[in-house]
Amino acid sequence: MDKKEHWDDIYNRKNFTEVTWFQTEPKLSLSLIRGLELTKDLQILDVGAGSSTLVDFLLRDGYQNIFLLDLSKNAFKQSKERLGKKIEKIHWLVGDVRTFNFKQKFDLWYDRAVFHFLTDTVDQNSYLKNLNDSLKTGAYFIISTFAEDGPLKCSGLEIVRYAKDELIQKIGPNYKLLNFQKETHVSPGGMEQKFNYWVFKKL
Ligand SMILES: C[S@@+](CC[C@H](N)C(=O)[O-])C[C@H]1O[C@@H](n2cnc3c(N)ncnc32)[C@H](O)[C@@H]1O
Repeated sequence: MDKKEHWDDIYNRKNFTEVTWFQTEPKLSLSLIRGLELTKDLQILDVGAGSSTLVDFLLRDGYQNIFLLDLSKNAFKQSKERLGKKIEKIHWLVGDVRTFNFKQKFDLWYDRAVFHFLTDTVDQNSYLKNLNDSLKTGAYFIISTFAEDGPLKCSGLEIVRYAKDELIQKIGPNYKLLNFQKETHVSPGGMEQKFNYWVFKKL
């Protein structure tokens, strides 16, 4: 099964509230985003958004230019059902974050639990090139991955865990760290998962 089939299958079989990474309200992500004090018309991109509820809260906060990207179109089915009429306000993009040809540059690139699936340096570099090409200078990059003491796999796939400085090194000198936070996520099944979160500004 290739990666796209893997994710299509997950979102076919599971309700968005059943996946291990589900959050009723992504509180830490929201507080990091709100802390940036972006004006509401700026372009926000959630890569590997899946069926995350983040978009529900961003809409409630009044953001007007929200872009969601995911490899699996099935991921968006449940979000669309949940959001009803509000779906028209969102830009839905189906494709691979490593290669997707974005038509605009963003003020915020947000990634929770997506980059960590890229275990190969070539894939990581493609992601970082697309990030760099698609983010405005002075814009923000929020990323979260499993922490150094987090799980070794996510959704049955191998991942790379990152400690604070490991990710800073991986991202490179073009990005200045503004904030770093730790979170213990509790999955719907009651399993604890340690995450790290970084907020960067593109120089
Ligand atoms: C663990 S889930 C996290 C979903 C969401 N970010 C959240 O926090 O709820 C990973 C998501 O990344 C998507 N994904 C995995 N690899 C991807 C890729 N190369 N390009 C775009 N999306 C990808 C999957 O389809 C899945 O929805």
